[in-house]
Amino acid sequence: MVATVTANPLREGLQVERMPEPNAVVIFGASGDLTKRKLVPALYNLELEGLLPNGFAVVGFARRPIPDADFRAQMLAGINQFSRTRPAQPDVWDAFAPKLHYCPGNFDDPAAYQQLAATLNRLDAQHGTAGNRLFYLATAPEYFPVILQQLGAAGLNNSPAGGWVHVIIEKPFGRDLATARDLNRTVQDVFREDQIYRIDHYLGKETVQNLLVFRFANGIFEPLWNRNYIDHVQLTVAEAVGVEGRGGYYDTAGVIRDMIQNHMLQLLTLVAMEPPAALDGNAVRDEKVKVLRALRPITPQDVNRTVVRGQYTAGTVGGQPVPGYRQEKGVAAGSVTETYLALKLYLDNWRWAGVPFYLRSGKSLPKRSTEIAIQFKQVPLSLFDRGAATAVEPNLLVLNIQPDEGISLRFTSKLPGATMQVRPVNMDFRYGTSFGVPAPEAYERLILDCMLSETALFTRDDEAIAAWAFINRILAGWAQTPVTALPAYAAGTWGPPEANALMEADGRRWRRL
Ligand code: BG6
Repeated sequence: MVATVTANPLREGLQVERMPEPNAVVIFGASGDLTKRKLVPALYNLELEGLLPNGFAVVGFARRPIPDADFRAQMLAGINQFSRTRPAQPDVWDAFAPKLHYCPGNFDDPAAYQQLAATLNRLDAQHGTAGNRLFYLATAPEYFPVILQQLGAAGLNNSPAGGWVHVIIEKPFGRDLATARDLNRTVQDVFREDQIYRIDHYLGKETVQNLLVFRFANGIFEPLWNRNYIDHVQLTVAEAVGVEGRGGYYDTAGVIRDMIQNHMLQLLTLVAMEPPAALDGNAVRDEKVKVLRALRPITPQDVNRTVVRGQYTAGTVGGQPVPGYRQEKGVAAGSVTETYLALKLYLDNWRWAGVPFYLRSGKSLPKRSTEIAIQFKQVPLSLFDRGAATAVEPNLLVLNIQPDEGISLRFTSKLPGATMQVRPVNMDFRYGTSFGVPAPEAYERLILDCMLSETALFTRDDEAIAAWAFINRILAGWAQTPVTALPAYAAGTWGPPEANALMEADGRRWRRL
């Protein structure tokens, strides 16, 4: 049942008339970084905005035995440091803190799950959480299977009469096609697919959701959104940060697993999908999975032609010296893990046949910037090109995902004066100035959606598999021709020269960001 709440004036005009049923959120990996940086601050902000039900509790589950009071103190410190609204407001915190509890246990210990079940039953009585549960797997991925199996063995996967039990699984969802299939099997042994929420936090970003609104709530762009009018698409996720102390993890992943398989392919699906029949989870995901299935496989022979890897060496980002990737803590001395990747791909379907999509992502680049740039075809006959000074540039639509959230459209205009000189100009929309309301964090939206049984912004099993099927071929191609070093780029530069060559071979250029 979905109730209506009185609109919070802060959020007036936004669609927030949904209130989840009472529930308890259990976070596995409660002592980890994600919990204090993202998950608990997100729950705190939901509380602040009046979006949590009256019956609500959180249970942190991790190995180290600590009292509830210590757990609460750690979470408060996390909110004060990382929440988008900070520091915590005393009245909101006072209402929120008593709902936070802690349950120590080893992930493989059946007794710990009995203890957890008893805690949850107690909280049903204490906080009125009504038997509804959201299990959040925020541990290192090697613990996912054992946690899932133990939840099943303890019967914690069973929904209460008329209620629900959901499980959110953090990334990475597998590390290749085979392990993703295994993980799907493991989780589906315990939970039904409609209980499973594979999270990709990019789908919770406001600007990413706005892609759907932009495409399907405006009549003027969709008729042009195809091979007849679009020359090519560039997707960029540039990061200024390096591996941020996560060298051990990153060295086993690389940008292909860390960013491309999940976040970037998800962005691609939203750019390229057909209009869904409705906005419900299955209608949207049916269309997204079709995009992933239309990805032209990159053969081992093609991999070195269409995929460029890079690795950063020592340099400077934002005025700060950055060590080379191989010198980062946790990274193997001779590592050939890519910290940058650029690739060209095609979608073999009627809408996109022949339109190249160029994707690039990297760490230790000059600045943080995520954008989708749609370059339209040139006019059929140019009347105004009179030398370089007056060159007519093709129309360009740029969807800025972050950090300068907005949309801009480039078109050609006449320069004032007696001569017919032209110049590109931009029509700009900026979220900040247009709405003046702070956007919720991705995790707020996604956790709320999970409590509301809204699946559209989560990855379905077939979607995860289709994405991995594409990536797996690239991994297989690399495995066939092992290398001892990757093309280098100095930290603070825009990737290796080979990435430019990829575009130049097609007579195109990466956008300057
Ligand atoms: C995570 C990656 O999924 O996304 C990180 O593991 C990356 O390496 C992060 O930095 C980027 O997210 P955002 O929201 O800062 O763009």
